Amino acid sequence: MMIQETTVLWNRMAAKGYYRLGLAISGGFDHAQPGQFVMVRVGSDNQPLLRRPFSLLGLIREEGRVSGIEILFKVVGQGTEKLAGCRKGERLSVIGPLGNAFLVPDTCRQLILVAGGVGVPPIRFLAQSLLEREGGLDRCVVFIGGRTRDDLVCISEFDLPGFLLDISTDDGSQGNPGVVTHSLEKALDAGTADLICACGPPAMLKAVAAIAMARDIDCQVSIEAMMACGMGACLGCAVRIRGDDTGYRHVCMDGPVFDARQLVW
Ligand SMILES: Cc1cc2nc3c(=O)[nH]c(=O)nc-3n(C[C@H](O)[C@H](O)[C@H](O)COP(=O)(O)OP(=O)(O)OC[C@H]3O[C@@H](n4cnc5c(N)ncnc54)[C@H](O)[C@@H]3O)c2cc1C
Ligand code: FES
Repeated sequence: MMIQETTVLWNRMAAKGYYRLGLAISGGFDHAQPGQFVMVRVGSDNQPLLRRPFSLLGLIREEGRVSGIEILFKVVGQGTEKLAGCRKGERLSVIGPLGNAFLVPDTCRQLILVAGGVGVPPIRFLAQSLLEREGGLDRCVVFIGGRTRDDLVCISEFDLPGFLLDISTDDGSQGNPGVVTHSLEKALDAGTADLICACGPPAMLKAVAAIAMARDIDCQVSIEAMMACGMGACLGCAVRIRGDDTGYRHVCMDGPVFDARQLVW
């Protein structure tokens, strides 16, 4: 993990209200993994004061080394609004890579990925990284959900060899009508999986965890919490854990990826 001044390579609208931001880095991300995140200082005038956390969408490689990172963000408030206005060549201070990562064990042959709304970045990074996995997978199904078709971002990037894509929108404007967890449940009624990896809004993650636990399927979830420091100093990101002495873990240091069975839902 390091703190560095990065340079904006691009900042493109990916869908209404969603931006893809490419940043040139000086180093430190060669071993960054899907699920890890960065803390970005949004602008140089310390407004807003606190850095904002964003998952890695992917790594930019040049001549065998990692020369940049990409994030995908949704404009929701002051910080992301300001980030949306960043132009090519601007400098942004970034701390990272932070946190832990999804871990797909060698024994996993049938994998399910679930992404809801702005939960897409770490799932897209994970899907891309699995292409390099030795021995591949027997089957990987990616479930992506959004409120409407405007919330489906980067879906074409899941068009990967050996991956099946299953899309849902709450309003039925694209893919299956209804929430993504309905499609997941139907698929698991017809077949099984060794592992589910998911990222998305809390209600979606809670439902995915319940579906997985009811079927005794391993499930890893990347969760969000309010983060002031991203490095274990402010204690602002504590979440309750089952059967643990202290009863709490830090999302920034112990997460953001947790075994679904560990969390108090
Ligand atoms: C580990 C992690 C990874 C994340 N990855 C992404 C990502 O890849 N793409 C993306 O668009 N967003 C991601 N987020 C959420 C993102 O950090 C917030 O949307 C962002 O900080 C909002 O900043 P703002 O100043 O625009 O909004 P604010 O004006 O601060 O708040 C607007 C809304 O966003 C919520 N919010 C604010 N800060 C956070 C925070 N630190 N964590 C969670 N919710 C917050 C507030 O509750 C409020 O509802 C991630 C959060 C975490 C913790
Ligand atoms: S964000 Fe400060 S302790 Fe986790």
